[in-house]
Amino acid sequence: MNDWGLILAAAGSGSRFRSETPKQFVKIEGRPLYVYSLRSFIAKVREMVVVVSGDRVKEVESQIKILLPHIEEDCHCEVVSGGNTRQKSVALGLERLTAGRVLVHDAARPYVSPDLISRVMAGVEKQGACVPALTVTDTVKQVDSGFVVQTLERTELVLAQTPQGFETDLLREAHRAADKIRLEGTDEASLVEKLGFAIMVVEGDPSNIKVTWPADLKRATEGSNSAMS
Ligand code: CTP
Ligand code: MG
Repeated sequence: MNDWGLILAAAGSGSRFRSETPKQFVKIEGRPLYVYSLRSFIAKVREMVVVVSGDRVKEVESQIKILLPHIEEDCHCEVVSGGNTRQKSVALGLERLTAGRVLVHDAARPYVSPDLISRVMAGVEKQGACVPALTVTDTVKQVDSGFVVQTLERTELVLAQTPQGFETDLLREAHRAADKIRLEGTDEASLVEKLGFAIMVVEGDPSNIKVTWPADLKRATEGSNSAMS
Protein backbone atom coordinates (compact mmCIF):
# COMPACT_ATOMS: atom_id res chain seq x y z
CA MET A 1 0.00 0.00 0.00
CA ASN A 2 1.14 3.55 -0.73
CA ASP A 3 2.11 4.91 2.66
CA TRP A 4 3.53 8.23 1.45
CA GLY A 5 2.56 11.73 2.51
CA LEU A 6 3.66 15.18 1.36
CA ILE A 7 4.21 18.31 3.37
CA LEU A 8 4.26 21.34 1.08
CA ALA A 9 5.93 24.27 2.84
CA ALA A 10 4.10 27.36 1.57
CA ALA A 11 3.86 29.60 4.63
CA GLY A 12 6.81 31.90 3.93
CA SER A 13 6.62 35.62 3.30
CA GLY A 14 9.27 35.68 0.54
CA SER A 15 11.24 38.63 1.95
CA ARG A 16 14.05 38.30 -0.63
CA PHE A 17 11.52 38.17 -3.44
CA ARG A 18 10.19 41.58 -2.40
CA SER A 19 6.69 41.48 -3.81
CA GLU A 20 3.39 42.24 -2.14
CA THR A 21 2.18 38.73 -2.89
CA PRO A 22 4.44 36.01 -1.42
CA LYS A 23 6.27 34.28 -4.27
CA GLN A 24 4.45 30.94 -3.90
CA PHE A 25 1.14 32.71 -4.67
CA VAL A 26 2.37 34.74 -7.64
CA LYS A 27 0.45 33.66 -10.73
CA ILE A 28 2.09 31.96 -13.67
CA GLU A 29 -0.31 31.61 -16.58
CA GLY A 30 -3.23 32.20 -14.26
CA ARG A 31 -2.23 29.65 -11.60
CA PRO A 32 -0.43 30.32 -8.33
CA LEU A 33 3.11 28.99 -8.29
CA TYR A 34 2.50 26.43 -5.49
CA VAL A 35 -0.13 24.62 -7.58
CA TYR A 36 2.54 23.46 -10.04
CA SER A 37 4.59 21.66 -7.42
CA LEU A 38 1.51 20.28 -5.67
CA ARG A 39 0.30 18.76 -8.91
CA SER A 40 3.54 16.83 -9.41
CA PHE A 41 2.94 14.85 -6.21
CA ILE A 42 -0.69 13.82 -6.78
CA ALA A 43 0.12 10.45 -8.33
CA LYS A 44 2.88 9.75 -5.80
CA VAL A 45 1.38 10.17 -2.34
CA ARG A 46 -1.85 9.28 -0.55
CA GLU A 47 -1.89 12.29 1.74
CA MET A 48 -0.94 15.96 1.35
CA VAL A 49 -0.61 18.65 3.97
CA VAL A 50 -0.25 22.12 2.48
CA VAL A 51 1.11 24.57 5.05
CA VAL A 52 0.25 28.23 4.46
CA SER A 53 -0.01 31.36 6.58
CA GLY A 54 -3.14 31.43 8.73
CA ASP A 55 -4.87 34.14 6.71
CA ARG A 56 -4.65 32.08 3.50
CA VAL A 57 -6.03 28.72 4.63
CA LYS A 58 -9.57 29.25 3.28
CA GLU A 59 -8.39 30.84 0.03
CA VAL A 60 -5.95 27.98 -0.67
CA GLU A 61 -8.56 25.33 0.16
CA SER A 62 -10.90 26.73 -2.46
CA GLN A 63 -8.12 27.35 -5.00
CA ILE A 64 -7.09 23.69 -4.77
CA LYS A 65 -10.70 22.53 -5.24
CA ILE A 66 -11.02 24.66 -8.37
CA LEU A 67 -7.58 24.21 -9.92
CA LEU A 68 -6.99 20.55 -8.99
CA PRO A 69 -10.58 19.20 -8.91
CA HIS A 70 -9.60 15.51 -9.03
CA ILE A 71 -7.02 15.66 -6.27
CA GLU A 72 -9.23 13.93 -3.68
CA GLU A 73 -9.65 10.90 -5.97
CA ASP A 74 -5.96 10.11 -5.50
CA CYS A 75 -5.13 11.50 -2.11
CA HIS A 76 -6.42 13.25 0.95
CA CYS A 77 -5.44 16.92 0.91
CA GLU A 78 -5.51 19.23 3.90
CA VAL A 79 -4.51 22.89 4.23
CA VAL A 80 -3.13 23.99 7.59
CA SER A 81 -1.72 27.09 9.17
CA GLY A 82 2.10 27.39 9.41
CA GLY A 83 4.57 29.12 11.70
CA ASN A 84 7.04 31.95 11.49
CA THR A 85 9.99 29.75 10.47
CA ARG A 86 10.14 27.08 7.79
CA GLN A 87 11.02 24.50 10.44
CA LYS A 88 7.97 25.43 12.52
CA SER A 89 5.74 25.26 9.44
CA VAL A 90 6.99 21.75 8.64
CA ALA A 91 6.53 20.71 12.29
CA LEU A 92 2.91 21.88 12.16
CA GLY A 93 2.43 19.90 8.94
CA LEU A 94 3.94 16.83 10.60
CA GLU A 95 1.34 17.04 13.38
CA ARG A 96 -1.39 16.42 10.80
CA LEU A 97 0.39 13.67 8.87
CA THR A 98 -0.63 10.02 9.26
CA ALA A 99 1.51 8.40 6.50
CA GLY A 100 4.55 6.33 7.48
CA ARG A 101 6.87 8.06 5.02
CA VAL A 102 7.02 11.72 4.20
CA LEU A 103 8.33 13.98 1.47
CA VAL A 104 8.87 17.63 2.41
CA HIS A 105 8.90 20.06 -0.49
CA ASP A 106 9.32 23.82 -0.91
CA ALA A 107 6.27 25.34 -2.61
CA ALA A 108 8.73 27.75 -4.24
CA ARG A 109 10.16 24.89 -6.38
CA PRO A 110 7.60 24.53 -9.17
CA TYR A 111 9.71 22.41 -11.55
CA VAL A 112 10.08 19.26 -9.50
CA SER A 113 9.96 16.29 -11.89
CA PRO A 114 8.31 12.89 -11.38
CA ASP A 115 11.72 11.22 -11.86
CA LEU A 116 13.30 13.28 -9.10
CA ILE A 117 10.44 12.46 -6.72
CA SER A 118 10.80 8.76 -7.53
CA ARG A 119 14.57 8.84 -6.91
CA VAL A 120 14.04 10.31 -3.47
CA MET A 121 11.26 7.84 -2.63
CA ALA A 122 13.49 4.91 -3.65
CA GLY A 123 16.26 6.29 -1.44
CA VAL A 124 13.95 6.47 1.57
CA GLU A 125 12.68 2.94 0.97
CA LYS A 126 16.29 1.74 1.01
CA GLN A 127 17.84 3.94 3.67
CA GLY A 128 15.10 5.71 5.68
CA ALA A 129 16.25 9.23 4.74
CA CYS A 130 17.18 10.72 1.39
CA VAL A 131 17.90 14.13 -0.14
CA PRO A 132 18.48 15.21 -3.73
CA ALA A 133 21.54 17.38 -4.35
CA LEU A 134 23.56 19.02 -7.10
CA THR A 135 27.33 18.98 -7.36
CA VAL A 136 29.04 22.35 -7.11
CA THR A 137 30.64 23.74 -10.25
CA ASP A 138 31.84 27.12 -8.99
CA THR A 139 34.76 27.52 -6.60
CA VAL A 140 33.33 28.02 -3.11
CA LYS A 141 34.93 30.37 -0.61
CA GLN A 142 34.28 31.03 3.01
CA VAL A 143 34.21 34.77 3.62
CA ASP A 144 34.02 37.07 6.59
CA SER A 145 33.19 40.81 6.45
CA GLY A 146 33.92 40.94 2.72
CA PHE A 147 37.27 39.09 2.86
CA VAL A 148 38.15 35.55 1.90
CA VAL A 149 38.87 33.24 4.81
CA GLN A 150 39.52 30.10 2.79
CA THR A 151 38.57 28.07 -0.27
CA LEU A 152 36.45 25.01 0.48
CA GLU A 153 37.02 21.61 -1.11
CA ARG A 154 34.44 21.65 -3.89
CA THR A 155 34.37 17.88 -4.41
CA GLU A 156 33.09 17.44 -0.85
CA LEU A 157 30.21 19.92 -1.27
CA VAL A 158 26.74 19.59 -2.76
CA LEU A 159 23.69 21.85 -2.94
CA ALA A 160 20.68 20.27 -1.27
CA GLN A 161 17.24 20.52 -2.87
CA THR A 162 13.77 19.34 -2.00
CA PRO A 163 11.78 17.10 -1.92
CA GLN A 164 13.59 15.51 1.01
CA GLY A 165 12.19 12.20 2.21
CA PHE A 166 12.14 10.38 5.54
CA GLU A 167 10.46 7.73 7.60
CA THR A 168 7.93 9.96 9.33
CA ASP A 169 8.87 8.81 12.84
CA LEU A 170 12.52 9.66 12.14
CA LEU A 171 11.63 13.20 11.05
CA ARG A 172 9.42 13.64 14.12
CA GLU A 173 12.25 12.52 16.37
CA ALA A 174 14.65 14.92 14.59
CA HIS A 175 12.25 17.84 15.17
CA ARG A 176 11.90 16.98 18.86
CA ALA A 177 15.69 16.77 19.25
CA ALA A 178 16.22 20.07 17.38
CA ASP A 179 13.64 21.83 19.57
CA LYS A 180 15.48 20.64 22.68
CA ILE A 181 18.78 22.21 21.60
CA ARG A 182 17.07 25.13 19.81
CA LEU A 183 18.56 24.15 16.48
CA GLU A 184 17.00 25.98 13.55
CA GLY A 185 17.73 24.40 10.18
CA THR A 186 16.90 25.56 6.65
CA ASP A 187 16.10 22.00 5.60
CA GLU A 188 14.92 18.76 7.21
CA ALA A 189 18.16 16.85 6.59
CA SER A 190 20.10 19.23 8.83
CA LEU A 191 17.91 18.14 11.75
CA VAL A 192 18.15 14.44 10.93
CA GLU A 193 21.95 14.75 10.58
CA LYS A 194 22.11 15.83 14.22
CA LEU A 195 20.67 12.45 15.21
CA GLY A 196 23.66 10.84 13.51
CA PHE A 197 21.39 9.08 11.04
CA ALA A 198 22.88 8.27 7.60
CA ILE A 199 21.10 10.25 4.90
CA MET A 200 21.35 8.99 1.36
CA VAL A 201 22.09 11.55 -1.37
CA VAL A 202 20.62 11.12 -4.85
CA GLU A 203 21.13 13.21 -7.94
CA GLY A 204 19.18 16.48 -7.90
CA ASP A 205 17.87 18.30 -10.93
CA PRO A 206 19.24 21.67 -12.13
CA SER A 207 15.73 22.60 -13.34
CA ASN A 208 14.36 22.18 -9.82
CA ILE A 209 15.18 25.79 -8.89
CA LYS A 210 13.85 27.49 -5.81
CA VAL A 211 12.28 30.81 -6.75
CA THR A 212 14.06 33.16 -4.33
CA TRP A 213 14.86 36.46 -6.10
CA PRO A 214 12.68 38.44 -8.53
CA ALA A 215 14.88 37.34 -11.47
CA ASP A 216 14.06 33.69 -10.70
CA LEU A 217 10.41 34.27 -11.53
CA LYS A 218 11.37 35.66 -14.90
CA ARG A 219 13.18 32.40 -15.56
CA ALA A 220 10.23 30.47 -14.15
CA THR A 221 7.78 32.32 -16.41
CA GLU A 222 9.93 31.59 -19.44
CA GLY A 223 9.86 27.92 -18.45
CA SER A 224 6.19 27.79 -17.54
CA ASN A 225 5.33 25.45 -20.40
CA SER A 226 7.43 22.77 -18.81
CA ALA A 227 5.78 23.40 -15.44
CA MET A 228 2.38 22.89 -17.07
CA SER A 229 3.27 19.54 -18.62
N1 CTP B 1 8.31 28.54 4.36
C1 CTP B 1 7.27 28.16 5.22
N2 CTP B 1 7.13 28.79 6.43
C2 CTP B 1 7.97 29.78 6.80
C3 CTP B 1 9.04 30.14 5.96
C4 CTP B 1 9.20 29.51 4.73
O1 CTP B 1 6.50 27.27 4.87
N3 CTP B 1 7.77 30.38 7.96
C5 CTP B 1 8.40 27.93 3.02
C6 CTP B 1 8.34 28.96 1.89
O2 CTP B 1 6.98 29.32 1.60
C7 CTP B 1 9.06 28.27 0.75
C8 CTP B 1 10.00 27.29 1.47
O3 CTP B 1 9.62 27.27 2.85
O4 CTP B 1 8.20 27.55 -0.09
C9 CTP B 1 11.45 27.65 1.29
O5 CTP B 1 11.73 28.85 1.99
P1 CTP B 1 12.32 30.19 1.34
O6 CTP B 1 12.65 29.98 -0.08
O7 CTP B 1 13.34 30.73 2.27
O8 CTP B 1 10.99 31.13 1.35
P2 CTP B 1 10.67 32.38 2.26
O9 CTP B 1 11.12 32.11 3.65
O10 CTP B 1 9.24 32.70 2.04
O11 CTP B 1 11.57 33.51 1.57
P3 CTP B 1 12.64 34.47 2.30
O12 CTP B 1 13.62 33.57 3.03
O13 CTP B 1 13.26 35.23 1.17
O14 CTP B 1 11.85 35.35 3.24
MG1 MG C 1 13.20 31.76 4.11
